Amino acid sequence: MKISVIGTGYVGLVTGTCLAETGNEVLCIDIDKSKVEKMQKGEVPIYEPHLDVLFHRNIKANRLRFSTLLEEGIEHGDIIFLALPTPEDEDGSADLSYVLGCASDIGKLLKKYKVIVDKSTVPVGTAERVTKAISSETDVEFDVVSNPEFLREGFAVDDFLKPERIVIGSSSEKAIELMEKLYKPFVRSGNPVIIMDEKSAELTKYAANSFLATKITFMNEIANFCEKVGADVDKVRAGMGTDSRIGKRFLFPGIGYGGSCFPKDVKALYKSGKDSGYDFDILNAVIKVNDIQKKILIPRIESYFNNDISGKTFAIWGLAFKPETDDIREAPALYIIESLLSKGANVQVFDPEAMPNVKRKFGDKISYALNKVEATINADALIICTEWSLFRTPDFEKLKSNLKQPVIFDGRNLYDLEEIEKEGFYYSSIGRKT
Ligand code: UGA
Repeated sequence: MKISVIGTGYVGLVTGTCLAETGNEVLCIDIDKSKVEKMQKGEVPIYEPHLDVLFHRNIKANRLRFSTLLEEGIEHGDIIFLALPTPEDEDGSADLSYVLGCASDIGKLLKKYKVIVDKSTVPVGTAERVTKAISSETDVEFDVVSNPEFLREGFAVDDFLKPERIVIGSSSEKAIELMEKLYKPFVRSGNPVIIMDEKSAELTKYAANSFLATKITFMNEIANFCEKVGADVDKVRAGMGTDSRIGKRFLFPGIGYGGSCFPKDVKALYKSGKDSGYDFDILNAVIKVNDIQKKILIPRIESYFNNDISGKTFAIWGLAFKPETDDIREAPALYIIESLLSKGANVQVFDPEAMPNVKRKFGDKISYALNKVEATINADALIICTEWSLFRTPDFEKLKSNLKQPVIFDGRNLYDLEEIEKEGFYYSSIGRKT
C-alpha cells in the first residue's frame, strides 16, 4: 500500500519505518528541512533501539522516503497518517493547532479519496474537528480515522511490530477495511484489532495513559506510607502484583512519572473533563502527588546535610525520564537539578544518552562527566534519577573512594538494602528502610 506520514517525531518515524518493513511504500513529510535532509542522507534523528536497522534497510529498498512537501505526501498516500505534536496549552489542554492546520491544508490539496488517520494523541472530538477542517476546503470524498498509538519510548519498534492491540475508531466500512488490511501483518499472533467509534478510540488512549499514571502514583503513595510505618514497598509490591487482577507491571515506585506523554495526557484528560462539566478528582490528585514526588528526595538531602546544601556537590546518575531514551521531557532529574542549583549546590551529571539534551538546557550551570565514575569524584553524595542498567552494578569500593562521604539517594531503588548496608553506605531509597 502507499502510505504517507505527516510529522517525523518518534511516533511518526517509528510508524513510517515499521510500515515500510512490511512492504508498504512510505513517504514521510516534515516541515523541518534540515531534519529531512539528514534523514535523506540516512541519519536517524532520534535514539530509539532497533530503529536504525529498519530505517536503513527500508531506505535501501526504496520503501522509505522523506520530503518537506505536503502536496507530495497528499498525492502519494492512500492512507495519510497525522503524527503531529499536540503540546500542552497554557491551561493544560492539548494544543491542536498543528493537527487542524494540517487538516485544512490537506483539504486544499485533496484530489481523490484518502483515509486520514489521527495517530497523535488528541482529545475526544478531534476526528470530528479534523473532518470539518478538511471538508470546509474540499468536496472530494475522504474518511478520518482515529488510530491511537500505544508505543513506549525505548520499545517503540517492538511495540509497533508486535502490538498487544490495535484500536481503530471509524464509522466508515471502507476506511476500516483499508486499516485492517494495513495492520494484518502485525497481528498474525492473534492479538486483537478493536474497532470502535472515533470518540471512544480517542478516549481509549487518554484513559490508558491516565490509568497507568494513576497506578504508578498509587504505588508512590504506598511507598511514602511504607516509610512512615516501617514497611518495605518491594515486599508490598510483590505481594500485590501477583494478584492477576492487579498485575506486576507499572507498580515500581520512584521519583514520579515523566516523559512527553503521561504528564501531558493526564492534564489534558483532566481539562477535557472540566470543559465537559466533569471533575476528575482522581486525576487532580494524581497530578498533585506526582508534582510532589518528583522532588521528594530534596528535603531528605537537605535534612541529611543539616538543612544547608549550599556549596555542596552532588553527582547525578541518570537524566532521561526513563532508561533507553535520550528524552528529558518532564524528567524528574531536571526538577532535582533546578532545586539543587537554587539552593546553591553544585551538580555534576552523567547519563549514557541524554547529556546533549541536558547541556542545551543547563549549559555551564552544571558539569558533565564523561562516565558514571567521573561524575562521583569529590561529590558529597550520589543521587540516582534514572534506572539505566549500567548503574545497577557499580564498583562500590571505587564509589566510596570517589565520594567525600558514602551517601546515596536512590530515586529508583536499584540496590539491595542488605548489600548496600554491608558496603557501608548511607542509603536512602523510595518506600524502604533508610
Ligand atoms: C507511555 C505509555 O506507556 C505508552 O503506552 C504510550 O503510547 C506513550 O506513553 C504515549 O502516549 O505515546 P512512555 O512515555 O514512553 O510511554 O513511557 P513509560 O514507559 O510508560 O514510562 C512513563 C513514566 O512512568 C516514566 O517516567 C517511568 O519512569 C514511570 N514509571 C513507569 C514508574 O515510575 N514506575 C513504573 O512502574 C513504570
